[in-house]
Amino acid sequence: MTDTATITTADRVSIIPIAGALGAELSGFDLSSELTDAEVQTIRQALLDHGVIFFHGQDFDTGAHKRLARRFGDIFNHPFLISDDPDVVTIVREPGDTRIVGEDWHSDTAMVAEPPMGAILIALEVPDYGGDTLFANQYLAYDALSDGMKDLLANLKALNSDRLVAGPGAAELSDSRSTKSRTGPDWRETVNAHPVVRTHPETGRKCLYVNHSYTVGFEGMTEDESKPLLNWLLEWGHRPEFTCRFRWRKGSVAFWDNRCTKHIAVDDVHDTRRVMRRIQIAGDRPY
Ligand code: SIN
Repeated sequence: MTDTATITTADRVSIIPIAGALGAELSGFDLSSELTDAEVQTIRQALLDHGVIFFHGQDFDTGAHKRLARRFGDIFNHPFLISDDPDVVTIVREPGDTRIVGEDWHSDTAMVAEPPMGAILIALEVPDYGGDTLFANQYLAYDALSDGMKDLLANLKALNSDRLVAGPGAAELSDSRSTKSRTGPDWRETVNAHPVVRTHPETGRKCLYVNHSYTVGFEGMTEDESKPLLNWLLEWGHRPEFTCRFRWRKGSVAFWDNRCTKHIAVDDVHDTRRVMRRIQIAGDRPY
């Protein structure tokens, strides 16, 4: 990911990194409008260059949110978060909630065969402070490993399941927050093996692809056997030097590349309402 600020020839557009590891703020875009092909191309390139990109001062309804997402791919319907509109997840924290969506480091929906390539999240109601989101660059997490560890991981596959965040095992989690998971008899566990080190389909770079919310072990090993190495990789993947932290305002937007980043919602505002609207964009099978 690049670490230099870019002012495009259009001049009104700026792309300013917010941290050494990843993340850049873009200005000069009105995401509620029909984007031109050139604007889509600039945003897409910024996403590839910076892993996660941010916008402020945006205001768009669900219809415009869908139109925006469709400029980058098909909409991905979330399999277990309950929502009136399958294309959209509203992530709500009400005062009194003791758990939140995204409270562990994760890449989204990693248990499906073709996890989403990204997500676009807009802040509708946020506290004056707190409720930030952290992101971690998984290219850097891979690049910084020793050659020995890279060799060890080269052919390893991880089993990813939704049983930690949905289904009966997640009933207490779901009951403790306003945005609910499927936990009843209509839920079936989804498990898929994905490479521990995946290759980004657009940049060709390798990145680490395991996460706290979905990865339960390695293929061909018991979960107990997997734990020491898996736990080490999970903690390694969000060392501070791989991360950035985003402070939301009402109307801020984050668009992350779900293939090469992880993220976590910081659970530090217990008495305040926080409402976000998210649309995910379909992706490919990791390889
Ligand atoms: C998520 O994990 O997608 C939610 C992030 C957030 O609410 O900040």
